[in-house]
Amino acid sequence: MRPDAVHRVLETEVAAARARRGGAAPRVLDVGGGSGGWAVPLAADGCRLTVIEPSPNALATLHRRAVDAGVSELITAIQGDVDALDRLVPQAEADLVLGHGLLEIVDDVDAAVGALRAALVPGGALSVVVPNRYAAVLRRALAGRPAEALRLLNDPAGRLAGSDESIQRRFDIEGLAEVMTRAGLVVEVLHGHGLVSDVLPGSVLEADPGTADALAELELAACDRSPLRDVAARLHVLARRPA
Ligand SMILES: C[S@@+](CC[C@H](N)C(=O)[O-])C[C@H]1O[C@@H](n2cnc3c(N)ncnc32)[C@H](O)[C@@H]1O
Repeated sequence: MRPDAVHRVLETEVAAARARRGGAAPRVLDVGGGSGGWAVPLAADGCRLTVIEPSPNALATLHRRAVDAGVSELITAIQGDVDALDRLVPQAEADLVLGHGLLEIVDDVDAAVGALRAALVPGGALSVVVPNRYAAVLRRALAGRPAEALRLLNDPAGRLAGSDESIQRRFDIEGLAEVMTRAGLVVEVLHGHGLVSDVLPGSVLEADPGTADALAELELAACDRSPLRDVAARLHVLARRPA
């Protein structure tokens, strides 16, 4: 299966970092790295990873996955929080910092992005994936819950206040770009990720072997085209710390 837009951007970034380091392993910091869904493949691609993650269960799974993939010597896992990042990792050393699925759950977005930025070497890049508020509105409306969709649409943080949602906020394109700019980062890529893949029933993909490939091609073609990118399930930004 062809790589999606986020993987493509990261592959390019890793190749550029490797070239800057004269062929040595790029340094990647994955904050809120969970069980290693991004860290393990990046280590398998020859990167040296530090994963910051508060959950012991996620860290245990990360450890197992890293051992199974034969990359445990390339991954340093630290139990910790983005709030303490400056005490957990050296400043200005990472070629690439990942904050995937993180900014929607932290208490203070600007403080978190400031900490992620500070870990970057000048010229390095921050990759962030967050949920899109408009996708959440559409999904609820299409599920026959228009009142909920309207509440979500009108909520300043793009969440259902008073519900048991575990996240604190969702983002839109403009809001996400502003967060990066406020932190002194230069936005280079701002994609939509997951236009329809998350909502298509598995039976559609299984019905015809060519459908998954065609869908991947559609997702790639739509990821940077407004208005389709603006309603994708997630938004992906790659923003650079000026050299
Ligand atoms: C939605 S998961 C994303 C996991 C992974 N980055 C991915 O994209 O598959 C969010 C992760 O962030 C961790 N987390 C929650 N609060 C955090 C914080 N304040 N600092 C760092 N990580 C945090 C959670 O334990 C969880 O593993």
